[in-house]
Amino acid sequence: MHEFKFKNKRLFCEDVRIEDLVKKINTPLYVYSYNTLVGHLLKIKNAFKQLNPLICYSVKANSNLSILKVLIDKGSGLDIVSGGELFRALKAGCPAEKIVYASVGKTDSEIELAIKKKILFFNVESLPELANINRIARKLKKKVNVALRINPDVEPKTHHFITTGKLTNKFGIDFDNAEKIINLGSVFSNILIKGIHIHIGSQIAQSKPFVEAIKKVLKFIKRINSRNSEIEYLNIGGGLGIIYDNETPQTAADYAKKIVPLLKGSGLKIIMEPGRFIAGNSGIMITKVLYVKKTPLKNFVIVDAGMNDLIRPALYGAYHKIEQVHKIAKGRMKADIVGPICESGDFLAKERMMPKVKEGDLLAVMSAGAYGFSMASNYNSRLRPAEVLVKKNKYRLIRKRDKYEDLIRQEIIC
Ligand code: LLP
Repeated sequence: MHEFKFKNKRLFCEDVRIEDLVKKINTPLYVYSYNTLVGHLLKIKNAFKQLNPLICYSVKANSNLSILKVLIDKGSGLDIVSGGELFRALKAGCPAEKIVYASVGKTDSEIELAIKKKILFFNVESLPELANINRIARKLKKKVNVALRINPDVEPKTHHFITTGKLTNKFGIDFDNAEKIINLGSVFSNILIKGIHIHIGSQIAQSKPFVEAIKKVLKFIKRINSRNSEIEYLNIGGGLGIIYDNETPQTAADYAKKIVPLLKGSGLKIIMEPGRFIAGNSGIMITKVLYVKKTPLKNFVIVDAGMNDLIRPALYGAYHKIEQVHKIAKGRMKADIVGPICESGDFLAKERMMPKVKEGDLLAVMSAGAYGFSMASNYNSRLRPAEVLVKKNKYRLIRKRDKYEDLIRQEIIC
């Protein structure tokens, strides 16, 4: 479900015509739908209401302050992975007690800041990290809540770059070592191990790997709680897949049907960290056709957005549906849709059957709301795009397009 629809062959976001936005703000442009964003948060909330979980939206998926604020206003907490994301979370008005902090490489200054701000949990990914948090907490004379991130060693059946719950991945702690850490108990005098965290990967289409991982950790929690620990929280991470093409991922309701019975009656407080599920289909990226180039072997549709604006196709071979914003083309053609960047990996689509477009036509890259702008860069000294949030027939610019001065703001000529 999303609110990017064609009316009389013209693409709209809610009640705003995309061509009208482009006239005012130009391309490349990210456009987000308020109703789709909130709708997806509510889908998860409703599906899981029996458990009343704390939903901590994963900031990395789309970290624009306005996007965060919309979700915070609807009761969402935030999952962060850096000092920068903590800064954003607080700027957007997230209560610290709704922030959880993962990452295998938290620095001393990041840890110190998060302790001082009194976040809910660190999701701790190794013994040395735990020792470091303890050292810093002692220095600050604070007791700090942590969850141990367990690596449950399950196969989530997704792209290997976004698989995180196998023992060959750098994330989390295996069960044996987690138990040893818990048995160390009072060695870490400034730490309270109150939770267990898992996150097995991203864009996972089926419930099975989640069920497998949750069953494993529940067994583990039962065992350790019967001895010397007091685990109150279980954070089941994010990872729910969305539709990019013709996938048939589980819905939030399907997912809940499998997961809720496992967790109901466990007595644990549940945390969830969805990112893509909430933001993915809430955004699209609009780009303009600059040239149509025919070579002896191929057609290239050269557009004004490149891998610096949306890196998912280049990095993961990810598929994004691409639509003509005003469906006027007569006939179809096969083409690579490529950007202006000086790399052969700079493409948005390969060998794509698409409408026969011409210079000046607008294209919409669909499902670009998650890991789109948040992974954008200034490579080739390109200006990162503007972002707009649409609600019904109104829109707000939520990020200005970079200017040339922004490119050199931190640089020093010697
Ligand atoms: N929690 C943790 C600890 C995570 O590392 C992630 C994502 C999430 C939650 C949210 O996962 P989601 O619900 O969005 O699947 N750039 C890649 C995705 C990387 C995901 C990294 N971790 C992409 O464009 O597909």
